[in-house]
Amino acid sequence: MCKKPYYITTPIYYPSTKLHIGNTYTTVAADAISRFKRLTGYDVMFLTGTDEHGQKIQRIAEEKGITPIEHTNEVVAGIKDLWSMMNISYDKFIRTTDECHIKAVQDIFKKLHDKGDIYKSSYEGLYCTPCESFWTETQLVNGNCPDCNRAVEKSKEEAYFFKMSNYADRLMEYIEANPEFIQPESRKNEMVNNFLKPGLQDLCVSRTSFDWGVPVTFDKGHVVYVWIDALSNYITALGYGSENQEFYEKYWPADVHLIGKDILRFHTIYWPIMLMALELPLPKQVFGHGWLLVDGGKMSKSKGNVVDPVVLINKFGVDAVRYYLLREIPFGSDGLFNNEIFIKKINSDLCNDLGNLLSRTVAMIEKYFDGVIPAPIEKGDFDNELINLALEAPKKVSKAIDELRIPDALESIFELIGRANKYIDETTPWILAKDEEKKDRLGTVLYNLAESLRFASVMLSSFLPETSEKINVQLAVKAIDWDSLAGFDGTAPGTAVKKGESLFPRIDVDAKLKELEEIREAQLAENKKNEKNEKVEIIPIKEEITIDDFDKIDLRVVKVIACEPMKKAKKLFKLKVDINGEERQVVSGIAQYYKPEDLVGKYVVLVANLKPVTLRGELSQGMILAAATDDDSLLQVINPGKLPTGSQVR
Ligand code: MSP
Repeated sequence: MCKKPYYITTPIYYPSTKLHIGNTYTTVAADAISRFKRLTGYDVMFLTGTDEHGQKIQRIAEEKGITPIEHTNEVVAGIKDLWSMMNISYDKFIRTTDECHIKAVQDIFKKLHDKGDIYKSSYEGLYCTPCESFWTETQLVNGNCPDCNRAVEKSKEEAYFFKMSNYADRLMEYIEANPEFIQPESRKNEMVNNFLKPGLQDLCVSRTSFDWGVPVTFDKGHVVYVWIDALSNYITALGYGSENQEFYEKYWPADVHLIGKDILRFHTIYWPIMLMALELPLPKQVFGHGWLLVDGGKMSKSKGNVVDPVVLINKFGVDAVRYYLLREIPFGSDGLFNNEIFIKKINSDLCNDLGNLLSRTVAMIEKYFDGVIPAPIEKGDFDNELINLALEAPKKVSKAIDELRIPDALESIFELIGRANKYIDETTPWILAKDEEKKDRLGTVLYNLAESLRFASVMLSSFLPETSEKINVQLAVKAIDWDSLAGFDGTAPGTAVKKGESLFPRIDVDAKLKELEEIREAQLAENKKNEKNEKVEIIPIKEEITIDDFDKIDLRVVKVIACEPMKKAKKLFKLKVDINGEERQVVSGIAQYYKPEDLVGKYVVLVANLKPVTLRGELSQGMILAAATDDDSLLQVINPGKLPTGSQVR
């Protein structure tokens, strides 16, 4: 029978720095879904890869004194090693430096140009290099990039533009008619209200100031904008535009693009518009998951809180990491990674509940039945409850995965594991074993436990593949077969069990926490050392100005008299400041770093003669000065001391 195709993608990763645990989240989730779909009879194409072009990569390579491709080859090898360590079962790994991808992107660009969707003009704009995005003045927040809050660079060059507005109405209609297209629902509203409704600007889609990109075939010196290059990977990986389009015909449109919420705009506005212009079908769904945060917020090198997946895997095993990511992070919203919760979760769920269930069951089969699984001859109390729960679990898991509720799928599996442990306490096999007449009942109890574990193992195989294999070895489960979960009789009586090592040895929480803390301190010390020895990558210093230019800026000491968060703009605060008796309102993008009450009463520096603008519907009369690290992990408003308000800062 011909299997139904299922196409799932992760974002393609920037080979800029080492991946952290947050980056691995999308890929682990996509892997679990892919494995589950394969298990339940789909012909799956799971795509991942690397996004290798752009100014940022070129700069990193220059600093290292190597070519961009040498740099990306090195990082890509590391990323592939990590995926193999994490048991990521991708079907294809695309690199945007692959020759066939480059050729297909060139054809796509030409096609859009020939159709008149892309036109040549010149661009004078504000560019955010880390985000590879152009912004208009009105889109900036406090003069900074609205996505990452970093400084933007003025840049003027001849460039090609994509007429996004041509397709805005069609896209809006599509989004309205297909409520499943952008998920979760809240993210759909964000895209429609913040980007589509205010009107789409034409998008600058080529660059001439650097050359590490896909060359535009018909205009030397231009390279294709990285996002046009990167987004195309979802179809070029399938051979779109090549001689062999078999995979494209089979798998496109994608069932789901799984991405982090920060890149939703590119996937739900630019990408569908590109596809509309190419007259291709749109993906069925774009799912934007939340962020994995650590204590203290975003992971960053300078805070020393970057969680390295390799360290965790080496210490706790790959399935412990996969379990935490898949079970503990609510899919769709932000979640926390915390060492202590992580270790305690391994001890309670994986060691106590799952590990002990297996070791007790196998030990009892060995002890009472010479290691051979007995036949279920004599039914008794509690059996039906356990069996019914087992038979219901696959349905619940299936439904949860169809709706991309991964933690719920795991919860259903662990509900069965918990029920089986309770069944041991209820049926007390060690008491049954004392009475020869109860041998048949004891046999049934142990059969039911072995069969429950087989159910758990088949269901877990998509989420914790290594653990599932270990269970199968101990219980001699021959095949992972989803259909076998239709009946509670898949275990063959007479099968010999084989006791193995414990699945998840109990962890000494304090000792391991101490080890992790030592690693963190070593990392911080290493960063400090590197900071001293190496030139740190900073945002380039802007064009030279004269003292007269500087003199135009009027900086004043002001006192914050009120501060409140802005509705629907998580990064923004609305502040009232006093400037020598005059009250002004200022909108400032510092909400991630302060609580309103921390700011009230503070003296800060205001750019007092900045032309007022309206930001998210609120008047902003000036800008508050702050110092921030390059990666934006740390930010501090400038403290001028308690000078009288209105004093000049010069
Ligand atoms: N290259 C682009 C994607 C192009 S897709 C056509 C990119 N790459 S990335 O390496 O910066 O990010 C890869 C993925 O990691 C994104 O989905 C991003 O949202 C995700 N994450 C990065 N940090 C994260 C957390 N702390 N938590 C969860 N996901 C995070 O963007």
